[in-house]
Amino acid sequence: MIILAIETSCDETAIAILKTPRLRSGRFEILSNVVSSQIKIHAKWGGVVPHLAKREHIKNLPLVLRKALREAKVSSINVIAVTAGPGLEPALWTGINFAKELAEKWKKTLIAINHMEAHIFSVFLKEKSSKFQVPSFKFPAVALLVSGGHTELVLMRKMLDYKIIGQTLDDAAGEAFDKTAKMLGLPYPGGPIVAKLAEEKVVAPFTLPRPMINSKNYDFSFSGLKTAVLYKLKELGFDNLKPHARLITRKQIAYEFQQAVIDVLVSKTLRTAKEYQVKTIILGGGVAANQELRKQLGEAIKKQIPNTKYLIPDTAFTGDNAAMIALAAYFRAKEKKILDKLGTSPENLKADGNLKLS
Ligand code: KG4
Ligand code: ZN
Repeated sequence: MIILAIETSCDETAIAILKTPRLRSGRFEILSNVVSSQIKIHAKWGGVVPHLAKREHIKNLPLVLRKALREAKVSSINVIAVTAGPGLEPALWTGINFAKELAEKWKKTLIAINHMEAHIFSVFLKEKSSKFQVPSFKFPAVALLVSGGHTELVLMRKMLDYKIIGQTLDDAAGEAFDKTAKMLGLPYPGGPIVAKLAEEKVVAPFTLPRPMINSKNYDFSFSGLKTAVLYKLKELGFDNLKPHARLITRKQIAYEFQQAVIDVLVSKTLRTAKEYQVKTIILGGGVAANQELRKQLGEAIKKQIPNTKYLIPDTAFTGDNAAMIALAAYFRAKEKKILDKLGTSPENLKADGNLKLS
């Protein structure tokens, strides 16, 4: 079976092709994985502009498809999977309309995929290989999903069974990184730049809050942290500092801010893991590229609940890509066994910017 997957939920136009010898085998191969990033276009505006994303996706989709088909060396496919949400609706619709056209032209089944579910499965992809055997992993599992639009703790009691037990009440973790970078006069996307500055570990003579770290629930809140950065910069007269002092302040804020985010994420994930006695912890989403977060979550697990398996994606698959969409479609097909029942009728396939995992 060959699955072609399309992802256009934000600012990457992506198409991947996955092949499996038999649905039940647990073996699959990523034949191609093409990602065309629009970051340069949106960077000028300090964030993703939905109508520009839509225009670029429409322009890029046919080119990305041609490249994906050429690299995969396949002439026919069996199933088309497409991200239906969550994400920016004008962007999502471009992928959905493209998928519908292909499905009609090729007379193929369409499968709608939840982008966050795909981030969970991204832990099974590896950069250095194209052939995979799904490793066994035990339930219950909890996934900490951290991206530009989402921060959530998802409990999985079995395969394809999701319960959101905690989420951000305001800004997502990635969004907080992006906004902090902006306040520091740094370009979009801010996450990687803030992480780079934080690498120098320039300790600040002040602390920033760890919002909700002691709250009894599993929710997050990052907008207060962002506001604390704003006030601190005002207090320090950041805009009028000399270049050297500005750079030092940037590094101090980056280090302290990143540590505040990590402290909250690690603490709540560990608490969830203990409460629900999970056997596996998964980290996924764009912010999972953060080396310090990967490391500190791993260390906390090893120290506090050493028998828990820790799964993280290769950094090549933390950002948005279509290989993870194809993989989510594969898992859906594998579990449900009968592919026909999975198919979404084109009339019912709609973009849902707020699509929830369930
Ligand atoms: O999953 P993703 O690629 O897109 C969404 O689905 O939102 O996540 C993008 C987010 C951005 O906010 C970006 O700044 C953040 O991931 N990000 C990082 C790092 N790399 C990307 N945040 C912290 N540290 C990083 N190294
Ligand atoms: Zn994403």
